[in-house]
Parts: sequence; structure tokens; C-alpha cells
Amino acid sequence: MRKPLVAANWKMNGSREFAERFFTDLNLEGVTSGVVVCPPFPYLSLVAQEAEEKGGFAVGGQDLSQEPSGAFTGEISASMLLDSGARYVIVGHSERRSFYSETSELVAKKFFAAQAAGLIPILCIGETLEEREQGRTLEVVATQMQAVSEVIDTDAWKRAVVAYEPVWAIGTGKTATPEEAQSVHEFIRAQLGQVGDEVQILYGGSVKSANASALFAQADIDGALVGGASLDAKEFAAICRAAV
Ligand code: G3H
Repeated sequence: MRKPLVAANWKMNGSREFAERFFTDLNLEGVTSGVVVCPPFPYLSLVAQEAEEKGGFAVGGQDLSQEPSGAFTGEISASMLLDSGARYVIVGHSERRSFYSETSELVAKKFFAAQAAGLIPILCIGETLEEREQGRTLEVVATQMQAVSEVIDTDAWKRAVVAYEPVWAIGTGKTATPEEAQSVHEFIRAQLGQVGDEVQILYGGSVKSANASALFAQADIDGALVGGASLDAKEFAAICRAAV
């Protein structure tokens, strides 16, 4: 039985004051799913401190370097994330792939670096609108997963989370219908072969409390990676509560 998981990706939003208020407002009573909060790097320690005091959620980074250390100005290593209290890290978010030209090969290296250090990577995959209209959704997600499969053992997928995020649904208010999302999730699980049943596969793209239950009711949707709606503590908690 897979435990549901809901992850907040604050992206480049917030401030110290925002983070402090968020946790004052965050009420996780009645939440049975796993919960992860991924703030911008400077607030990782603050969020980790909140997690220790309040409990009920884990902390994640939004990205990491594929390198362990060295002359890589501006980069952050897996061990630094661990040091700051993170247990998870998002890799291959579509905003990294499109705005910072991250290739699937680089994403695979980051995935490997995260696991090598003991972090749980949340691997984001998903097609653009153009790719969807060309009928290439499954081919795109399979290729993105294949790049990772080439650098890890099959068993390593059990220590990872996959997030299917159709790029056209991110921050647009357009969500894939639960049935559309389910069919891609089912495909992703099949791609994972014998370990598929043990891997949490999250959906991401304009998830909010109003559409979360219908998405979570699908057999292969194990939770969500939430962007915009995770900036509101009450809304985020409502999404977490819907994941049972
Ligand atoms: O990481 C989160 C996803 O990009 C979804 O963002 O919920 O604002 O559409 P969104």
C-alpha cells in the first residue's frame, strides 16, 4: 500500500516573515498523508526548525547541483541540503528544464547525486502543450524517465518519487482531467516495471482543494506537487487533508 504524499513547492516566493506566518497558520490536524515543504534555499533551515518543533511534515530543496563540491559558484550540493534539514529534493522541474536549459541527462545526474547523498529525489516529468497536441505525451515522459533509468538500478526507483506535471497545466489554472492524468500515471507506473507498485507518483499542475479529491480518487495518483496553492497555509492543508 503506497502512502499518499503532498509536496509544497514555494518556487521563488516568500520571505522570512511569510514562512513564519505560514507555519503559524498551518494546521495539519486530520492529515494522514506525508507532507513535504520545499522553500527557497535561504529558508530551508527555518522550515526545518519549524518541522522539528511542529512535526507532521518534512523539508525539501527545489533543486541541487550534480556535483558534490568545488568551484561551482551559486550551486548547492546534496550534502548542503541534508545539512540544512532537507530529506527530499525536486529534480527536473519543468521551469528548470525550460528556463535553465536542463537536459534529461543533467536531471539524471542530479537524481543520482541526490540519492547518493541519501536524499529522496522528486523527479518531475511532463509534456508541453505542443508535445501533447502532437500526441507525444507518453513518448516524452518515457524518454525523461529513461534518462534516469540509465544511471540507476531499478531498485533505486523505490527511494524516489515521480511527479507528473503536464507543463501546460502549471500555473495556468488548467488541470488535466482526473482521467487524463490517471492514464499517464498508469503508463508511468507500467514503465517502472516490477517496482512500479512501490513508487509514489504525484500529479502537479494547478492543484487546489477544489480539484484535489477527484485527482486523488484515481488509482495511480498518489498525491500532488503543489505550486501556487501551497502559498496559502489553509488551502495547502485542505489539499493535504484530501489525500487519504
Ligand atoms: O511544482 C509545482 C508545479 O509546478 C505546479 O505549480 O500548482 O502553481 O500549477 P502550480
